[in-house]
Amino acid sequence: MNAISKPSFGAYNIIDHTYDVVVVGAGGSGLRTTLGMGAAGLKTACITKVFPTRSHTVAAQGGISAALANMGADDWRWHMYDTVKGSDWLGDQDAIEYLCREAVPAIRELEHFGMPFSRTEDGKIYQRPFGGHMQDYGNGEPAMRACAAADRTGHAMLHTLYQQSLKHEVEFFVEYFALDLIMDEEGACRGVMAWCLEDGSMHRFRAQTVVLATGGYGRAYLSCTSAHTCTGDGGGMALRAGLAVQDMEFVQFHPTGIFPAGCLITEGARGEGGYLTNSEGERFMERYAPSAKDLASRDVVSRSMTIEINEGRGVGPNKDHILLHLEHLGADILHERLPGISETARVFAGVDVTKEAIPVLPTVHYNMGGIPTNYHAEVLRPTAENPDAVVPGLMAVGEAACVSVHGANRLGTNSLLDLVVFGRAAGHRAAATIKPGAALPNLPAGAGEASLARFDATRYAKGGTKVAELRDQLQRTMQSHAAVFRNSKSLTEGVNKMEKLWAGMSDMKVQDASLIWNSDLMEALELQNLMGNAVATMVGAEARKESRGAQAHDDFPERDDHEWMKHTVAYVEDDGKVALSYRPVKMQTLTNEVSVFPPKKRVY
Ligand code: FUM
Repeated sequence: MNAISKPSFGAYNIIDHTYDVVVVGAGGSGLRTTLGMGAAGLKTACITKVFPTRSHTVAAQGGISAALANMGADDWRWHMYDTVKGSDWLGDQDAIEYLCREAVPAIRELEHFGMPFSRTEDGKIYQRPFGGHMQDYGNGEPAMRACAAADRTGHAMLHTLYQQSLKHEVEFFVEYFALDLIMDEEGACRGVMAWCLEDGSMHRFRAQTVVLATGGYGRAYLSCTSAHTCTGDGGGMALRAGLAVQDMEFVQFHPTGIFPAGCLITEGARGEGGYLTNSEGERFMERYAPSAKDLASRDVVSRSMTIEINEGRGVGPNKDHILLHLEHLGADILHERLPGISETARVFAGVDVTKEAIPVLPTVHYNMGGIPTNYHAEVLRPTAENPDAVVPGLMAVGEAACVSVHGANRLGTNSLLDLVVFGRAAGHRAAATIKPGAALPNLPAGAGEASLARFDATRYAKGGTKVAELRDQLQRTMQSHAAVFRNSKSLTEGVNKMEKLWAGMSDMKVQDASLIWNSDLMEALELQNLMGNAVATMVGAEARKESRGAQAHDDFPERDDHEWMKHTVAYVEDDGKVALSYRPVKMQTLTNEVSVFPPKKRVY
C-alpha cells in the first residue's frame, strides 16, 4: 500500500494512494482490464467489494461466443449480423463489428491463458448452440458458437483471469467499497473514494484513469439471477458525478430462472436439446418462433412464456410457471455437459433432471443499459453538439457499461465476450494513451469531501424506514412496473412510485453506525446506487413509445425506427428527477470487411 498523506475530513482520516490506473470491480471485465493494464506496465490497483473469484461472473454458465467454427461452419460476420438483429437494431454497428471480430483472438488468448474449456474429440474448444446465434446471416441452422467449460464457463474464466492478473504487479484492494468518483472543475475524473470494509478506514485513490467495472444492477428487482452484490455501484457513482447512463429501459429477463427461487438454468440447456412445455404438454415455442423454436432470442422466449401463463396455460397449482425438459438427454450428457444446473435444480427445485422437468419462469438477468462508452471503453458525456464527447480519465467496461453492443436485447454468451473484449480494449487504449508514472495534476481542493459527507449522513441516518424495507419496496415496484410486458398506465404509476421511493431515502434508518464490516451501512449505500439506476430505468421506459427488444410496450406494440432508433441518455438530479435526451445509433462499420446491416423485421 503506498499511502502518501493523511488529510482528514471531519471525523475521517484519509489514506491517499497514487496509481496510473485504478480499476473498480474484479469480475470478468475488471480482471481482464486489470491484467491488461498491468501487462502494459501501468501501475494498477484493483478495488473490489468482494474477493475477485467471488464476483458475479462466477455464476455465468453456458458459454462465451466466438465464430471459431470448431464444430460447424461459422463466420464473425454471421455473429455480427445475429448480434445486430438480437439488439433489435439499437446496437452500435461499429462496436458490434469490433466485438465479433475480436472475439476470435480474445478466446484464443483465454485458451492460452489456461482456461479449462471443454473439448471436442479432436481436442478443440467445445462449442454449443445458443439462442439467436445462427449460420449464414440468420438463414441457416443454429450456429455452434458458444465456447463452454461445461456449464461453469464464468467460473473457469474468472479463475483464469485472476491467476493471470497475479502474474503482473497489480495490487488488489479486496473488500473495499468504492464510494464516489473524484471529478475536477474541467469534468475530468481524477480518482475514486473508497471505504475499507475490513478495518473501516477511508481511502482516496488518485489515478490517470479510473475504470468502472462494477457489473449490473439486477438487485433493483425482486426476482433475478444476479448476486446480492449486483447493485449498480458504477452507475450510481457516474450519476452522482453528473454523468449519464444510457438505454436503461432495456432489462433482460432470462427465460429459465428456477421457479420460484430465480436461480439461473443456463440457456445452454436448450442448446443441448432441452425444450419448454406448457400445461397442455405443448412445445409452444414452435408457434412463436417456427424456425429457431426454443433457441429464439431471450426477449422472444420470455415474452412467449409470459403469454402462455397469462392465457392460462401455465403449469402448477397456480398455473404460474412453465416446464423445462432435459430428462430425454440422458444422464451421461447431463453429467458431462450440464453438471452445474443439474445440481442447482436438485437444490433449489428438488428436481432430478434425469427424471423430471424443471419449473421455470423468466427472471431478471442482465442490464443492456449502463454508462455510455465508445468501443475503446472510454466513458462518454453526450451533448447535442457532440454525442461522442469523451470524459477524460474515465473508462467503463462490462455490464456497468453500455458500448452499445447489446442494444435492446443481448444474445446469450455475448456478455462474457463483452467482458473480455472490452476489458482487453481498455488495456490497449490505456497503453496507447497513458504514460507510466506520469505526474498527476493537483487534486481539486477538498477532493472527496462531498463523498464523505454523504457517507457520514448515511451512516447516521435516523429516519423511520429500515434499509431492507425501502429496498423491498423498490424491488416490488420494479418487478411489477418495469416487467416483461409494459404499458403506459403501469409505467406512469411506476414513475410516480419511484418519485416517492426516492423521497423515502431521506427517511432511511441505519441502525449500526460502526465502520468495520457494517453491512447495514453498506446496504444503505448500495440502495442509493440501486435507486439511481432504477429511476433512470423507469423514466426511460415510460418515455419510449415503442416496442423494441426487451421493451415490450402493450400500447405501442411495433418497433418505430423513424422515431425511436436512438439511444436514451439519462441524467439523474440530486432530487431524483430524471432528464432525458437521445443520441443516434451508429449505423456504420469500422472496416469495409463487412457492410452495415439495415433494419428489418425481426423474426426467428
Ligand atoms: O444461459 C446462460 O448460460 C447465460 C448466459 C449469458 O447470459 O450470456
